[in-house]
Amino acid sequence: MTDPVQEMKRAVGRAAADRVASGMVVGLGTGSTAVHAIARLGERLRSGQLDGIAGVATSFQSSVLAREHGIPLVALDQTDRIDIAIDGADEVAPNLCLIKGGGGAHTREKIVDALAETFVVVVDESKLVDRLGTVFPVPIEVVPMAVAAVMHAVESLGGRPELRMAEKKAGPVVTDQGNLLIDARFDAIDQPAQLERTLNNIPGVLDNGLFVDLADLVLVGAVADGVPSVREYRGESAT
Ligand code: A5P
Repeated sequence: MTDPVQEMKRAVGRAAADRVASGMVVGLGTGSTAVHAIARLGERLRSGQLDGIAGVATSFQSSVLAREHGIPLVALDQTDRIDIAIDGADEVAPNLCLIKGGGGAHTREKIVDALAETFVVVVDESKLVDRLGTVFPVPIEVVPMAVAAVMHAVESLGGRPELRMAEKKAGPVVTDQGNLLIDARFDAIDQPAQLERTLNNIPGVLDNGLFVDLADLVLVGAVADGVPSVREYRGESAT
């Protein structure tokens, strides 16, 4: 039996990839939803439906997948534009602010997604929340020597920080940049722009997973009676 969550992710990832046109430079997101968009781009290239696209990877994962699916990659400093970025999210609020970084890639994702002319977010329904921070903690990428100091600073802001530990390796998760991750739980985040700035002002923090005013379009995958569908989310209440 197919897993409905996987079906939603597949449907929405593919729908976003179908918005890409020949010649575009595409920001390639990270995570289990973005993988479907990357696979679909490869499929469209192979079938001749698309040509002349180039991908800008947001992580080691997305660059490996791009190669696997035959998508030519371009470095950020070798392109003068990113036409579209397709990326997942961990939470989407009604004002389209996001929490990202469940895969630890938010620093590079924010660079690429923010530069894109159109940033398309691809999620399944479970990611829609009424208030940011209610389900997911805010990931913070930190230079290793500053971890204890950043944890204290997060606590003094009312957050509950935890160092992200690896599952198939002893010790903490190490990011693609060689840094560590703190997941900071805040009960509900009413002023994401302010919290994003405050966290990024703590010495030792590279970037955090609050994405404010960056999403242009949110596509949501759903499955009803085994049939997948995709809709545009315009910020109505999640409940
Ligand atoms: C990667 O660091 C993240 O920002 C992902 O884009 C986000 O966690 C969504 O991932 P899934 O599509 O796997 O839920």
